[in-house]
Amino acid sequence: MILTQKYVFTALACLSFAVIPVVRSATIDVVVGGPGILKYSPEFVNASVGDIIRFTFKQKNHTVTQSTLQSPCSPKADGFDSDFVPVADSVTQGFPVAQFTVENADPLWVYCRQANHCQQGMVFAVNPGDKFEAFKAAATGNTTSTTTSTSTSTSATSTAPAGSSKDHRVVVGGPGVLAFQPANITAQVGDTVTFEFRQKNHTVTQSSFNQPCQALSATGQPGFDTGFHPVADGSTTFPTYTIQVNDTKPIWAYCRQANHCTSGMVFSVNSVETGPNTFEAFKSKAMGSNGTSGSNNQNAGISTRLNSASIAIAVVGVVFGVLC
Ligand SMILES: *[C@@H]1O[C@H](CO)[C@@H](O)[C@H](O)[C@H]1NC(C)=O
Ligand SMILES: *[C@@H]1O[C@H](CO)[C@@H](O)[C@H](O)[C@H]1NC(C)=O
Ligand SMILES: *[C@@H]1O[C@H](CO)[C@@H](O)[C@H](O)[C@H]1NC(C)=O
Ligand SMILES: *[C@@H]1O[C@H](CO)[C@@H](O)[C@H](O)[C@H]1NC(C)=O
Ligand SMILES: *[C@@H]1O[C@H](CO)[C@@H](O)[C@H](O)[C@H]1NC(C)=O
Ligand SMILES: *[C@@H]1O[C@H](CO)[C@@H](O)[C@H](O)[C@H]1NC(C)=O
Ligand SMILES: *[C@@H]1O[C@H](CO)[C@@H](O)[C@H](O)[C@H]1NC(C)=O
Repeated sequence: MILTQKYVFTALACLSFAVIPVVRSATIDVVVGGPGILKYSPEFVNASVGDIIRFTFKQKNHTVTQSTLQSPCSPKADGFDSDFVPVADSVTQGFPVAQFTVENADPLWVYCRQANHCQQGMVFAVNPGDKFEAFKAAATGNTTSTTTSTSTSTSATSTAPAGSSKDHRVVVGGPGVLAFQPANITAQVGDTVTFEFRQKNHTVTQSSFNQPCQALSATGQPGFDTGFHPVADGSTTFPTYTIQVNDTKPIWAYCRQANHCTSGMVFSVNSVETGPNTFEAFKSKAMGSNGTSGSNNQNAGISTRLNSASIAIAVVGVVFGVLC
């Protein structure tokens, strides 16, 4: 089944990428809903550029939808939207998760677009400064005044050339599957590649042709690493992670879980069809090596990818409600 785009947080760009200082990024957890709970917890966070905001969806059926300070309960044009994530009352673990990376220091305003949840105060903000109460009051109608003219958030533009870029979807794993599907693709500069993580617990980690099963970031070079994405058996929602193809050089990658790489779980973008550096040669090398699958922690991967020379990370999102 070809999946559509509607489930994915839309691209948040990385305009200020090259000037982002190397900082250790943090992952900030936010719980969405829960039995009888119509709120995000916490209701707002202060985050640094590069931090990841990770939403865990609990009962019942909520969204994480970007809005604006001026219109808290309406979707922002070109803003991100998780779509509805229903979670049954019986669920006690393996809650769906969505995350995105904070791309700049501007405030981000978010609400749940289920029924009247927003009007009941189910709103959230990143870096609201002193405006969170005003935002929530505007959502619930408990306004005194919100005549602030703060700029709304901002990061929803794409670095890709408008109109011409394409998103390539790659499925990572699946029940009993230790492979990327497809395992090699051809992409244009400006295209994006969205990895959709299936069972069980994989990464997409940039490596090199010569060392297929070794993270570039572990050798001190910039390289992306998605971190581990565990997906429960029977899950129908799949996290995604999008990279942007930023030049024509081949991109080599592998899964750094256990022995997945040496089992042939490798991937390439723009490998050549002939000559020594084909995808098949890369895969053979991976399977012949005793690669260091290593235990790079996720934070290391995140901070290095902010510096990646060959790839700009455009999105971290989640696929919701995909029925397979
Ligand atoms: C979740 O909410 C949406 C919007 O109200 C609705 O269309 C959808 O059917 C709900 N899903 C479930 C499983 O209740
Ligand atoms: C977040 O930053 C604002 C100022 O920008 C400050 O007033 C507030 O106390 C901070 N909140 C937390 C939880 O650190
Ligand atoms: C309305 O807003 C005021 C000031 O922000 C607050 O003290 C009050 O509790 C709010 N009332 C409700 C019903 O939320
Ligand atoms: C996923 O794999 C990593 C690395 O082996 C491990 O640390 C982590 O606990 C696993 N997560 C789950 C939920 O199994
Ligand atoms: C990509 O993979 C397919 C199937 O494995 C193979 O036929 C093709 O030659 C590969 N492309 C490159 C560039 O190696
Ligand atoms: C991989 O490691 C095993 C045991 O550690 C060893 O017997 C084997 O020769 C190694 N293979 C290669 C290609 O290095
Ligand atoms: C790719 O990224 C590098 C480093 O961030 C940047 O200098 C270069 O302009 C980018 N190239 C494209 C085509 O975006």
